[in-house]
Amino acid sequence: MRGVFDSVADKYDIMNDFMSGGMHRLWKDRLIREIRPRPGLKYLDVAGGTGDIAFRIKKRAGTNSDITIFDLNEQMLTVGRDRAVDRGWLNGFEWITGNAESLPFEDNSFDVYTIAFGLRNVTHIDTALREAARVLKPGGRFFCLEFSHVRAPLLAKAYDLYSYNVIPKVGKLITKDEESYQYLVESIRKMPKQADLRDRMTESGMKNATFSELSAGIVAIHKAMKA
Ligand SMILES: C[S@@+](CC[C@H](N)C(=O)[O-])C[C@H]1O[C@@H](n2cnc3c(N)ncnc32)[C@H](O)[C@@H]1O
Repeated sequence: MRGVFDSVADKYDIMNDFMSGGMHRLWKDRLIREIRPRPGLKYLDVAGGTGDIAFRIKKRAGTNSDITIFDLNEQMLTVGRDRAVDRGWLNGFEWITGNAESLPFEDNSFDVYTIAFGLRNVTHIDTALREAARVLKPGGRFFCLEFSHVRAPLLAKAYDLYSYNVIPKVGKLITKDEESYQYLVESIRKMPKQADLRDRMTESGMKNATFSELSAGIVAIHKAMKA
């Protein structure tokens, strides 16, 4: 898993735009609107990669916000740290390497946990969900933005054609690495269905779990609160 993101870290941001036709920006903006970031809270962005979600939170929450970006891959975090410096943001971020399945944080530490386009890469999703619930403060909020499942049959067929034929080829053209993008497409198919993930969030110690579908279910935002 680490290797996949090592090989694409530099081109990761460009590829996101290419493959989603810029849609990932709108999906991420929608996530931020649901979070409604405000100052004075502690945010944990797991699988935070090059900082896209953290930067959006920072823009809305302002300077008095405390955001930890956590990722398995040191190279993604290095690119993210450089991007933060380029924007003149030297304070308010912590960049920590590790696995979502075993978070190096105390119980009840964060007000908001986010994971965007990361949960499908985690080997044991339920373990990661339990860890999320553990580190959130009571009443703290969990948000997951992730590829999901298109339900309308015709649209699902068209999406399949695009994913299996176009994404790996475009990936190869830009990064010279077809395999990582083949992996991406397969990992999307393996994600639990929307309702299944919602139920597993509840089983992991969260309450009021719900989801909304974006772009006909290509992507979904799941959210809940620590019980
Ligand atoms: C597709 S990127 C998403 C990055 C960022 N959240 C975004 O939306 O742009 C997925 C990230 O998940 C990280 N990742 C994969 N498995 C992980 C795990 N078990 N624990 C923490 N991070 C993980 C990868 O290193 C990669 O940076």
